Amino acid sequence: MPYVLMKLFEEAPRRFDVWMQLLTFGRLQKIREEIAASAIDSGARVLEIGCGPGTLAGMLARQGVQVTGIDTSAEMLQAARESLDGNQGGGRQVEFKRLSALEIEDSFAKETFDRVIGILVFSELSDDEIDCVFQQCREVLKPGGRLIVVDEVEPRQAVRRWLFRFLRFPLRLVTFLVLQAKDLKTSNWFKKVLYYVIEFPLMLLTFLVVPPASHPLSDLEQRLRAAGLSTTGSKRFLAGTLELQQAERGL
Ligand SMILES: C[S@@+](CC[C@H](N)C(=O)[O-])C[C@H]1O[C@@H](n2cnc3c(N)ncnc32)[C@H](O)[C@@H]1O
Repeated sequence: MPYVLMKLFEEAPRRFDVWMQLLTFGRLQKIREEIAASAIDSGARVLEIGCGPGTLAGMLARQGVQVTGIDTSAEMLQAARESLDGNQGGGRQVEFKRLSALEIEDSFAKETFDRVIGILVFSELSDDEIDCVFQQCREVLKPGGRLIVVDEVEPRQAVRRWLFRFLRFPLRLVTFLVLQAKDLKTSNWFKKVLYYVIEFPLMLLTFLVVPPASHPLSDLEQRLRAAGLSTTGSKRFLAGTLELQQAERGL
């Protein structure tokens, strides 16, 4: 699955959900519905990391859950607030904050949340950041609380895995090129020449060395356990490229 295209869709927060439904053939919304229906009591406290345009946060809030949605993108948070204003019934239950996943421990008291949820956000962090955030999640979860991770993974089957790797590179390059050229339309000719002669070749080189895109998560279960959480079950979707993994903080 070309999850790498997500980066392009994040540039248009108000249409993000529509694109994601197309990209995941509607699966993402079904997963959100499953999470919202999975015994989260009314009055429970949930932290959603990388809440994007706030779709899941809105669904949870409408069933009485107290949600805190955090994201680093001001545009995504703006779209989340607007979509909540347009939906009756959930507004008072949700708080959106501009905050990085890496600041959770500094921003919330220990043992605050019944659930911490991260959908398609961990694949945007480096491996060290993921480990650090998992540990912070454990700290802010109540004993018996659960971390739910939904993210891109490599298929287990060898043929699919190689196909997945093979398809990722051109898609990542296209995503990069479109994102780079995005602001050029409004630049004058001098800036365009500078861009193509100096900036673009340098960025292309950087792209080849450190690709600035999402990456599939690896060793998810081991990492959750290393953070002091017990994994309680996982499911795979979309030809094994999307995983839902749950882990619990012990009592
Ligand atoms: C692919 S979107 C997923 C949005 C949402 N979870 C959903 O399922 O619709 C990833 C989101 O994570 C946010 N993000 C990326 N890095 C982050 C970080 N370090 N801390 C918090 N949010 C982050 C991005 O701004 C983006 O809104």
